Amino acid sequence: MKLIDARRDLYRRLAHQEGYRSRAAYKLKELNKSYRIIGPGFYVLDLGCSPGGWTQVAVELSGNRGKVMGIDKSYVEEIPNAHIIRGDIEDESIVESIFDYFGGKINAVVCDLSPQVTGTWSIDHSKQISLNYAASKIMDHVLAKKGNALFKVFDGEYSNEFRDYIKKKFVKVQIKKPKASRKTSSELYFSCLGYLGA
Ligand SMILES: C[S@@+](CC[C@H](N)C(=O)[O-])C[C@H]1O[C@@H](n2cnc3c(N)ncnc32)[C@H](O)[C@@H]1O
Repeated sequence: MKLIDARRDLYRRLAHQEGYRSRAAYKLKELNKSYRIIGPGFYVLDLGCSPGGWTQVAVELSGNRGKVMGIDKSYVEEIPNAHIIRGDIEDESIVESIFDYFGGKINAVVCDLSPQVTGTWSIDHSKQISLNYAASKIMDHVLAKKGNALFKVFDGEYSNEFRDYIKKKFVKVQIKKPKASRKTSSELYFSCLGYLGA
């Protein structure tokens, strides 16, 4: 077994043993350790949350005083202490449901959005970046000043443009590929700290 496959397998096995719904859970754990995107008591919105690994981690990190909402187009099985809704993040009217649940602005927005991949890189990349713009529009409505955000980005032609766009909105943006992310995948994660306001 190649080293890369062994590592992939390690995270899949760990997720199974530790009761996480996805290997992706370990990406959020690692990024949060480095950048503290989510802290105790945070109100957190998870965009593109299915099957729910990140939502599970967000519930742990935000603790008893926190609140977590997950949104996905696909069905997501209930997650204890989280509120899940089925919806399309490209439909801005979803903002109403977000305020209904949290009752005000929130502390963190995390986005692990992926389109249904076609296998044609240019299409998949541009669609993924456009999902991130849609997510950042929602973020502009709901994130409180000084709040944090996390975006998965398929690295390619338009990722620098998205980086520059998002950089203007935060005090600091850190770009990292976590260990649980496959070496062969083009994904990067933008950890955005200290929202400056819309
Ligand atoms: C990689 S998965 C997320 C994995 C998740 N972070 C976890 O830990 O389980 C990406 C998700 O983005 C969702 N997605 C893509 N486009 C969407 C949209 N327009 N609205 C809502 N969800 C969307 C997909 O349905 C998919 O479930």
